[in-house]
Amino acid sequence: MVNFDAIKGFVFDLDGVVTDTSRYHAKAWGQLADKLGVNYPNLGDAVKGISRMDALEMILKKGGLENNYSAAEKEKLATEKNDNYVQLIQHMTPNDILPGMAAFLKELQANDYGIALASASKNAPTILDKIGLKDVFTKIVDPATLSHGKPDPEIFVKGAQLLDLKPEQCIGLEDAAAGITAINAANEVSVGIGSKDLLHEADINFADTEDVTLANIKAAMQ
Ligand code: BG6
Ligand code: MG
Repeated sequence: MVNFDAIKGFVFDLDGVVTDTSRYHAKAWGQLADKLGVNYPNLGDAVKGISRMDALEMILKKGGLENNYSAAEKEKLATEKNDNYVQLIQHMTPNDILPGMAAFLKELQANDYGIALASASKNAPTILDKIGLKDVFTKIVDPATLSHGKPDPEIFVKGAQLLDLKPEQCIGLEDAAAGITAINAANEVSVGIGSKDLLHEADINFADTEDVTLANIKAAMQ
């Protein structure tokens, strides 16, 4: 692993790292899977980090339904999921920032680290606005510009570029297995937040967001 002193920037996932929206994604996808008659154990974990259309394809495939819908019908299903998801995030406020994350972001700002967002979600700007972090995340990779979603490294490479840094100067933070794979492939230091079983490929693991501090990261890199 690189030396902690080489690190100049942090590239964040949003859902499940900064705020607990992954449970809303899980709920909205679960509603759609039920409607389609698809039984998908651990659906919530499987869709973490996965783009909207890729997640829909995963669900259809699980049910053997991948050839049953036209492109237009798939768009309609994805829109239906998103409409339900948007309802679920309507009432989000700064109280929905995960424990320790507001303090960690302040710590990064106070120490002049670069901060960028690498979220697959097209709803990310809306959520940042609702939780009061729009001014902290001014550098956001637009997922609409990506050729490949996570686990491809592209989104984390672009996050480093937004910070004018090399990937080796960045730490990526993720709650999704696909996201950790993407960070590692981008050649950034990977921090996995959540189940170590799920995130065993991460360079550094923390069980909870409140464990994520500069001191703990520095200690883990020594
Ligand atoms: C990721 C979530 O951040 O965004 C995924 O972890 C979700 O579960 C993806 O599918 C895309 O989100 P959206 O809001 O563009 O449908
Ligand atoms: Mg996530």
